Amino acid sequence: MRLGFFLFLLFVGVYSLDNGLGRTPPMGWMSWTAFYCEIDCQKHPTGCINEQLYKDMADELVAGGYDKLGYKSVHIDDCWSEMERDSNGILVANKTRFPSGMKNLAKYMHDRGLKFGIYEDYGTKTCGGYPGSYKHERTDAQTFASWDVDYLKLDGCNIDQALMPIGYPLFEKELNATGRPIMYSCSWPAYLIDHPELVDYHLIGKYCNTWRNFDDINSSWKSIVSIISYYDKNQDKHIPTHGPGRWHDPDMLVIGNKGITLDMSISQFTIWCIWSAPLIMSNDLRIIGDDFKSVLQNQEAIRINQDPLGIMGRLIQNSTDIGTYVKQITPSKGDKKSYAFALLNRNSNKGYRKVEVQLSHLGLNDPSGYFVHDIWARVDLGLLRPGDSIVVSIAPAGSVFFRADVASLHNPIGRRRYRLDNYNVIYEFEKTQARLEGNDLFDYSRTNRVPF
Ligand SMILES: *[C@@H]1O[C@H](CO)[C@@H](O)[C@H](O)[C@H]1NC(C)=O
Ligand SMILES: *[C@@H]1O[C@H](CO)[C@@H](O)[C@H](O)[C@H]1NC(C)=O
Ligand SMILES: *[C@@H]1O[C@H](CO)[C@@H](O)[C@H](O)[C@H]1NC(C)=O
Ligand SMILES: *[C@@H]1O[C@H](CO)[C@@H](O)[C@H](O)[C@H]1NC(C)=O
Repeated sequence: MRLGFFLFLLFVGVYSLDNGLGRTPPMGWMSWTAFYCEIDCQKHPTGCINEQLYKDMADELVAGGYDKLGYKSVHIDDCWSEMERDSNGILVANKTRFPSGMKNLAKYMHDRGLKFGIYEDYGTKTCGGYPGSYKHERTDAQTFASWDVDYLKLDGCNIDQALMPIGYPLFEKELNATGRPIMYSCSWPAYLIDHPELVDYHLIGKYCNTWRNFDDINSSWKSIVSIISYYDKNQDKHIPTHGPGRWHDPDMLVIGNKGITLDMSISQFTIWCIWSAPLIMSNDLRIIGDDFKSVLQNQEAIRINQDPLGIMGRLIQNSTDIGTYVKQITPSKGDKKSYAFALLNRNSNKGYRKVEVQLSHLGLNDPSGYFVHDIWARVDLGLLRPGDSIVVSIAPAGSVFFRADVASLHNPIGRRRYRLDNYNVIYEFEKTQARLEGNDLFDYSRTNRVPF
């Protein structure tokens, strides 16, 4: 057994996941954090795990214009199946709640230009107690392919962790053998939080397109901050193993849910974009407020998330409450590099925090300077040199988020593509948009933030 295990590792060590999927972080909607395992459709007719819920969300993705911005997949989570497999050992969707079956639900998505994701668990049972895939890997991979599934989240409840280095690669092999491209999300490292020494992200990235590595998120600031802290602490392990085709997944966006303010929403979106993390919402798109929708639909933020370099941003400064993050983005060429940067105020109790940021202190040292754009205020700050500073005041649990295009690779005329005329604030800032020289201070207060 032991010898077999090592031979297997030897074999898997040279094999590499090459399914062409997930070249940019996946974007979509998933049910778990908004609807969990609610199966009582009498009591919760519009909020239970049934086919109508997923059809509704698909309709909202399209009608709300989310799909055009990249949110292209609808993901089922746990509690979708019957308690027993059929007589051939095949998984069956709950017949009361999914009367049309999964293949038809997939068709509903595909007819609307969307992708369809499903959930299973590598163990004997899912976390919710439904049939797991252990010893049914081939059958289940074939079943999902026959249903035209595009994405699989494979959880890790109810299985010995020591089997994970065998089971997750095995399932990848079975998915590949179906011939259908299926993006593969592994919960593998999330079950090893207490054994960081056993987590080898280079290995996991050979089998999985994306993976959860920490606790489930919930709709609270405490949860968001706990995830950010875990990622901060482990960034030296995360950053080099993150990129096109292989993404660390800090879990779903909880923007639009009760308990999450607008500033918290801006912060979660900012940090998830700085990380190039998957943007998978879990909320109720049928009732989401317009201001929260604006956060989820900020095109400049999404553009940084989806930047083709796929680099995970780094925490470069950390004080009691404020974290400063920098991420290289395109356009970059040789030494000339463009960046996104963000400051996060983790403290949700104290007031606004005023911080001065000098570009050179963020590593932005190109003498030609940078065209700096405020992503949430949707304002161009103009050309700033490495010695220039921006003064920001950051709301409790809030963030500021900028992109800085290196001037030597940038045609200033091109800045006109920002349609600032949609926002009143342009008139306020036109006066101060004169080019800054030397060590000028751009005193830029967040209290002027444009209402969405
Ligand atoms: C299917 O879902 C219905 C409604 O939630 C539930 O009452 C029933 O027990 C489920 N069936 C199985 C076999 O899990
Ligand atoms: C299966 O793996 C091979 C080799 O890595 C790859 O070229 C192919 O695209 C994969 N096919 C699917 C459907 O994932
Ligand atoms: C949400 O997550 C936080 C942080 O992990 C945890 O302390 C809290 O108990 C969770 N809340 C719920 C309702 O599960
Ligand atoms: C950042 O600072 C906070 C507060 O001082 C601290 O709790 C946290 O561990 C620090 N994070 C890192 C990665 O150093």
